[in-house]
Amino acid sequence: MRLPAHGSNPEHLFSALGMDSPAEIIDFSVNINPLGAPAAIKHHWESWLKEIADYPDPSASELKEAISTHDGVPASHVLAGNGASELITLIARYLHGKKVLIVHPTFSEYESACSNENCTILHHIVHPPNWQLDKEALQHKIKVVDAVFFCHPNNPAGVQYDSSAIDWLIDGCERSKTLLIIDEAFYDFASSPVTSIQKAGDFSSLLVLRSLTKMYSIAGLRLGYLAGSPELLARIQKSQPQWSLNAIALKAGTLCLNDSGHSEQARSYMEAERARLLSYLSDRGFLHSPSAVNFYLFKDPSLDDQETLFLFLLRKGLVLRHTYNFPGLHGTWLRAAVKRETENNRLMEALFEWKQGN
Ligand SMILES: Cc1ncc(COP(=O)(O)O)c(C=O)c1O
Repeated sequence: MRLPAHGSNPEHLFSALGMDSPAEIIDFSVNINPLGAPAAIKHHWESWLKEIADYPDPSASELKEAISTHDGVPASHVLAGNGASELITLIARYLHGKKVLIVHPTFSEYESACSNENCTILHHIVHPPNWQLDKEALQHKIKVVDAVFFCHPNNPAGVQYDSSAIDWLIDGCERSKTLLIIDEAFYDFASSPVTSIQKAGDFSSLLVLRSLTKMYSIAGLRLGYLAGSPELLARIQKSQPQWSLNAIALKAGTLCLNDSGHSEQARSYMEAERARLLSYLSDRGFLHSPSAVNFYLFKDPSLDDQETLFLFLLRKGLVLRHTYNFPGLHGTWLRAAVKRETENNRLMEALFEWKQGN
């Protein structure tokens, strides 16, 4: 099977498989807040139209002030980007030709961006079902590379480590002068988020990456940011195109960060809905990852490769994220987003039906 490398845009998946798209599709392959964007975005939308005649503020100062208040970091310790993806590309460019360690299974963009920059790539695989970090092996690898990419909470398993494990990683990288990039794109879906953002300015070798596209459901607008020391950010910013962030995204991002009620509501919805889904899966004999966020891995343990279950769900219009391109998983799990209750019920009904027939 030649399948798309990312979730979302399910029409590409159906076409890659030569399947007709069912009349109704529920896309569980994209990890976006099911409660949608803050209502205030719609409310302000028309008033933002006047912004598009001018060039956007290249220093993103209003947005950076909002980030500073939201995260308790100085605005000078922040670089805003056209989605976290742009910032990953800029970091990879900064690391051109260097040796990079990627803790897998994880978001595939770290590896493709670093490969494009002729980096030498090492893997450290974290294995299910415990997803333990294996500090001894990791410590050894940290010393021989220039940079480490670490997604936390991790995509695709949704695993969140305790802060002592993350501090151990930060200290180890700082000691060996290895740049550590912690991607916190999903941190705010956890009921008790663990974040390293406030340490980013104090440690010369630490960058913390954030995305606004998931929690605030603005993937089409593209918005993310990076926290780190001003010197390091200045070097990374060198290859960022001028006016990379559009004016509407700057307005929307500022508004989102000032709307703490939105993320609080999403967190409490997630906590209840994730628990309902995961306990259903366990009760029906499926295995799942111990996710702390808005997506999870699951599998039917009677199958090694989950392809038949993946196709069974696709025929019902339920689009899951395959794991063939996640090193360490190779299609042996499926990833699903936690969506709205009625949509999650559809998945649960289909899985019940699957179990009846298998
Ligand atoms: C872990 C992780 N980091 C970063 C990104 C990119 O986010 P953005 O939409 O801000 O580019 C994604 C997108 O799925 C992701 O899963």
